[in-house]
Amino acid sequence: MTRKLLVTSALPYANGSIHLGHLVEYIQTDIWVRFQKMQGHSVHYVCADDTHGTPIMLRAEKEGITPEALIAKVHAEHSQDFAEFLVEFDNYYSTNSEENRVLASDIYKALKANGKIASKTIEQYFDPVKNMFLPDRFIKGECPKCHAKDQYGDNCEVCGATYSPTDLINPFSAVSGATPIRKETEHFFFKLSECSDFLRDWTRSGTLQAEAANKMTEWLGEVGENKLSDWDISRDAPYFGFEIPDAPGKYFYVWLDAPIGYMASFKNLCAKNGLDFDEYWKKDSTTELYHFIGKDILYFHALFWPATLEYSGYRKPTNVFAHGFLTVNGEKMSKSRGTFITARSYLDHIKNPEYLRYYYAAKLNGSMEDIDLNLEDFVARVNSDLVGKYINIASRTAGFINKRFQGKLKMDSHNAVVQELMNAKTLIGNAYEERDFGKALREIMRLADLANGFVAEKAPWVMAKQESSDHELQLVCSQAIEMFRLLTLYLKPVLPKLAYQVEEFLKIPALDFSNVEHALGNDHRIGEYAHLITRIDPKQVEAMTEANKENLQSSVTPVVIASTHQVEETNYISIDDFTKVDLRIAKIVNAEHVEGAEKLLKLTLDIGEEKPRQVFAGIKSAYDPETLKGRLTVMVANLAPRKMKFGLSEGMVLAASDELGGPFILSPDVGALPGMRVK
Ligand code: MSP
Ligand code: ZN
Repeated sequence: MTRKLLVTSALPYANGSIHLGHLVEYIQTDIWVRFQKMQGHSVHYVCADDTHGTPIMLRAEKEGITPEALIAKVHAEHSQDFAEFLVEFDNYYSTNSEENRVLASDIYKALKANGKIASKTIEQYFDPVKNMFLPDRFIKGECPKCHAKDQYGDNCEVCGATYSPTDLINPFSAVSGATPIRKETEHFFFKLSECSDFLRDWTRSGTLQAEAANKMTEWLGEVGENKLSDWDISRDAPYFGFEIPDAPGKYFYVWLDAPIGYMASFKNLCAKNGLDFDEYWKKDSTTELYHFIGKDILYFHALFWPATLEYSGYRKPTNVFAHGFLTVNGEKMSKSRGTFITARSYLDHIKNPEYLRYYYAAKLNGSMEDIDLNLEDFVARVNSDLVGKYINIASRTAGFINKRFQGKLKMDSHNAVVQELMNAKTLIGNAYEERDFGKALREIMRLADLANGFVAEKAPWVMAKQESSDHELQLVCSQAIEMFRLLTLYLKPVLPKLAYQVEEFLKIPALDFSNVEHALGNDHRIGEYAHLITRIDPKQVEAMTEANKENLQSSVTPVVIASTHQVEETNYISIDDFTKVDLRIAKIVNAEHVEGAEKLLKLTLDIGEEKPRQVFAGIKSAYDPETLKGRLTVMVANLAPRKMKFGLSEGMVLAASDELGGPFILSPDVGALPGMRVK
């Protein structure tokens, strides 16, 4: 039976580049979609940029462009990245579209008509300088639990505590640095607290992954218990998003219209190719709907989203497939280690996107576990599996067919290895269906080993030297080419471009799962074999991580960064070089926030001169100005004064930092006095 599937990947935010972490998701979904298409099912794969919200509004402002211009630029960049990684959406749209505006408004009105919308007056932090309410992420302050400085308004990255922004000690706006004031405002809420029973049923009837179902049970609590709170779905102007119908100055919170963006992208596709939108979204739809997402956004997709759909009269997802997070070399992606790698940077250095697709596929198993990109293993795996095992089969046999038999195959024997390859169709198909791509590839590589064993045993290169074995040579090489065809078919969801090149080379129609048993015909002529892939040189990977290491020295802030990186021998300086730097003990007589500066504090430094120096230091992320007043530190006193946007900076304060933390400014030992020379 032909299934009708609508498949989505999460909509990436339109304020940043696609990186290797994102690609875990898009590559995974694309492989699954290609597999389903190869099964002959009708599949539509849609996605879009997630364009609304405060961060995008502020980023556009910072770049001096409109949010519309920013999201257009990012849309072009994202589309290009996905295309080059062979992620083939049927539609890649935007949440800032007319379709989405209409759908979001209609859904909201339906929820309201169903009594699921409440309005409440709440108190929120407001930035009196920027004249805007501040999202939790844009309020910083001291953690109420562990007193770590400079923590976000919703949770502490040092001790892990979660709290509300109003609990922060000495809060300040991360936008302007101003001290926020508390202000009342009316917000709209989706009454999620009334949806527990429905969500419990949905969890039970669904086919959620075990880990996801466990999370749901945890969030929902026991029957009769009500752990869910209502969901705040409105934000006040200024906000980049959709204005709420009949509520001027109030906007939909980005997470209300983002998943509706799945529908909007599909609606846009329907208009282009005549599909029936309602068939896929009506309450009793018999089509299947799947969302691929990262585990960080499960709450939105497994609670808010089905409840929103249920109470606005639409169908619910057939399933939500959550995956884990990417680590590189066993650690979180890191800018200083050079492992925060963008899609573009990978393409610049490694070039072939199918290597990454293969590696990710080998690691994915359909669970929510994190997956690790070990760069050394990546090189080894790709070189040994794809070049050493798979391509090898064609490269060792196709030449004989081309040169000795004018490209003609002889297929008159029944070969046990070919048969085993054909028989693997069900196992491999099931593994793809279950998103256990690792299992599929393990089986495919086991079969490749068998095929290589066959070639090694028959040793066509030996036969080629004896004219009497000509017929045998043709048979053996033809069987090997058939094995290569089958391996290519099984690898095609992962390596679509390579499979296409093989189809051209073998002169066969597009491979799909219905072709498994249709072996290459007797007397079929193949094309000229040209080398299909090359090994990765570990130097390419090194160059990539080198290029991604964020150069801390070039940081625009006037702070000398002491890092834990080794000093290379060629970097020695003479004592004369060193004494050129006039280092002085400085007393911080005043420290304050700078309006409009993200990273800077304005310091007034006494170094025993008549007039204190004014220095802008990039230490705002680590210090509350109040705590600096009266402290002694070390400054470079003979640095040429620099005119900055906020005023003249007459020197530089020393501070240490690296990926583990900082900046940490220096303190002299007891007894040092302002103005003393440091040498
Ligand atoms: N805009 C929201 C999704 C809205 S869907 C209606 C969002 N965007 S995102 O750009 O932050 O992430 C897009 C997807 O990429 C998410 O599913 C997220 O989990 C995934 N990943 C982002 N970084 C990732 C890793 N480092 N590793 C694996 N997946 C990651 O969330
Ligand atoms: Zn804390």
